[in-house]
Order: sequence, then C-alpha cells, then structure tokens
Amino acid sequence: MAEREVTLSVIKADVGSFVGHVQAHPDMLAAVRKRLAEAKEEGLLEDFYVANVGDDIELIMTHYQGSDDERVHKLAWDALMDATQVARELKLYAAGQDLLSDSFAGNMKGLGPGVAELTFVERPSEPVVIFMADKTEPGAWNLPLYKMFADPFNTIGLVIDPKMHGGFKFEVHDLVEHRKVTFSLPEELYDMLVLIGSPSRYCIKHVYARQSGKIAAATSTQRLNLMAGRYIGKDDPVCIIRCQSGLPAVGEVLEAFAQPHLVAGWMRGSHWGPLLPVAEKDSRPTRFDGPARVVALGFQLCHGRLIGPQDFFADIAFDRVREQVLELADHLRRLGPFEPHRLSLDQLEYTTLPLVAERLKDRFEDIE
Ligand code: F6R
Ligand code: MG
Ligand code: MG
Repeated sequence: MAEREVTLSVIKADVGSFVGHVQAHPDMLAAVRKRLAEAKEEGLLEDFYVANVGDDIELIMTHYQGSDDERVHKLAWDALMDATQVARELKLYAAGQDLLSDSFAGNMKGLGPGVAELTFVERPSEPVVIFMADKTEPGAWNLPLYKMFADPFNTIGLVIDPKMHGGFKFEVHDLVEHRKVTFSLPEELYDMLVLIGSPSRYCIKHVYARQSGKIAAATSTQRLNLMAGRYIGKDDPVCIIRCQSGLPAVGEVLEAFAQPHLVAGWMRGSHWGPLLPVAEKDSRPTRFDGPARVVALGFQLCHGRLIGPQDFFADIAFDRVREQVLELADHLRRLGPFEPHRLSLDQLEYTTLPLVAERLKDRFEDIE
C-alpha cells in the first residue's frame, strides 16, 4: 500500500492591522485559533500553528487531505473572515484587505490569500522551515532559494554530500504571462538566472531534489495587485523548505539570509529596501513602513503534528546582518523618491503612474 502523504499548508492574508499596516491584533489571532482548533477537534486538521508577521496572519496547517483541498481552503477562508470580523469591530486598519471576494469558491486561487503547500510522505525525521515576509513580494525568495539549493558558497552540501551532489530542479513561474518552466541545476544555472534575476516577474514556485525526486520547497506566488486590477499592496509571501538528509541543512537554509539583499516593497509597495531577518515578536514594520521583515519558524513534523516552533532569527548570530540591513536602509532612504530606491516606472504601473500619465497626456509636446 502506498504510504500516506501528509500536507503542510501555509495560507496567509492581511485582513486588517493596528496601528496602520503594522501588526495583526491579538483578538484577530484568537479568532483564527478558535476556528482552527475546532477543525482539529473534528479531524480535518492534524495540527496547526497561527503565526503573525507584520500585518499578515499565517495559518500553518497539517492534514491528510492533499494540496488544494476545498475543505482546508474553505476553513482558512472562514478563519480569515473571522479575523476580518474582529478587525471591523475594532475599526482596525484595512480590515479584510486581501479577501478579494465576498464568498469562497472552491479553492483560494484568485481570492487573495497567499498559499504555499507541500504534500509528501513524512520521512523518519522531517525538519521544515517556514519563511514568512511582510512588506515585500514573492520574488523576494528568488535569491535565498538560489543560494540554498544552487550556490556552493552558501550550501557546502552541494559539494560534499553525495546525496545532494546531483543538484535540484527549479520550477519558475512567469507571473505576467502565467506560464512556467523547469530548470535542472547545475547545468542550466545561467539560463535560470536570466529569469529569476527579475524577481518582480519571475518567481521560483517549487524546488525538487533530482536524485530522490523529493519535493523540497514551495512558495506562494500570487500577485494580488495583478489579480485585483488595481494596486492593493504587495503579496507578502511565504515559503516552505524541507531540510536535512539529502536536502539543505537547516543551517544552510538560514545562511541564505546572513547577508542583506534588496527586495521590492517597503513603503507603499514602491521601494527597494533590504530584507530584515527578525524574531516573530520583532516583525513590526515601523520605519517608512519597514524595512521588509522576514521570520523563519522551524518545526519537526511528527505523524503530522507540528513540534515547535523554533524562532530561528531570534538568534544573536543574525545581529550582524540586522546591523548591515539598517545601515543599508539609511543609505537608500537618502534617495527619497529617486531610483534605485523608488521602484522603476514600469514596476509602478499599478500605482500612481496611470493617474499621472493620464493627467499629463495632453501637455506633452513633440521635441523638434
Ligand atoms: C505596503 C503597505 C504600506 C501602505 C502605506 C499606505 O505594502 O502596506 O506601506 O502601502 O501605509 O497605506 P494606505 O494607502 O492604506 O494609507
Ligand atoms: Mg496591511
Ligand atoms: Mg503585509
């Protein structure tokens, strides 16, 4: 008989926060936990953990219903609606922001919340790390995923672990044209970098180990602003990584965040800024609505139970990168509304550009 597969689902949304776009309210989290606890009681969920990174609520759930399961997605939708209700009652900011529909229809696709799911046979020991970011976009994972799974300067296992030496496959999504392509690394590294170096358009969706065929990583890749047809914020992404035993070690996975890298997002989703690795309790974007934060929670799965979390970036080993990030943030802020701090015009096309272009269109004259 085939072994039973467990599914790890991370579904997240910003459904309101205080003060401004800073943090989900504890009463919202309590409402979500209540709904998920009932589902665990009823047996739909095996286990769950509710995280809060900035103004986003992340539902981390394990179950045996498979990916894209209607009942699990409906549960997440209902839980996020409960939180929205609390946000409305407290007149919190942007209540219900990411829920683009009044009702649930089949699964989360196109409805607003971000989804990353992995379905697999649980190994004898199954360490996973869940990364959750606020005030940035799904492409923010491109560079760290490249480092974890393709860069021997980050992941020495690629060189000296015979179980990893065969490399990894990367499924890359084109968020504009809605198509995907899979690259086999290391052979196709240079081709892949042409695409993933443009993270606002191309995002790594899944990573697979070539030798074992195991799925190793999944990200949330929806672009809310493209779905909504108007600007309603960046899609503050999540990412799940399986670790160890032929996959990158936990320390190799975390090492990908040991040097600052710039991501799009920050104030009004319109600026480049460095990604700040922080403990969950420090994930409150303040200065210029940022800088963008990333939290890393680790769990051991145990027959579907979530043993954890370990709040990895609480560690003092990340103090230095935090210092560097803050210094970089100072430099970029001095540029104010100028590129390369502010995003380029084509990346701003869902914000003010159409309005300004419309107003100015009759005032432009041809240059002789
Ligand atoms: C960025 C973000 C914030 C808001 C900003 C303006 O993703 O959520 O930086 O864009 O605070 O918010 P509004 O337009 O709601 O006043
Ligand atoms: Mg918000
Ligand atoms: Mg957010």
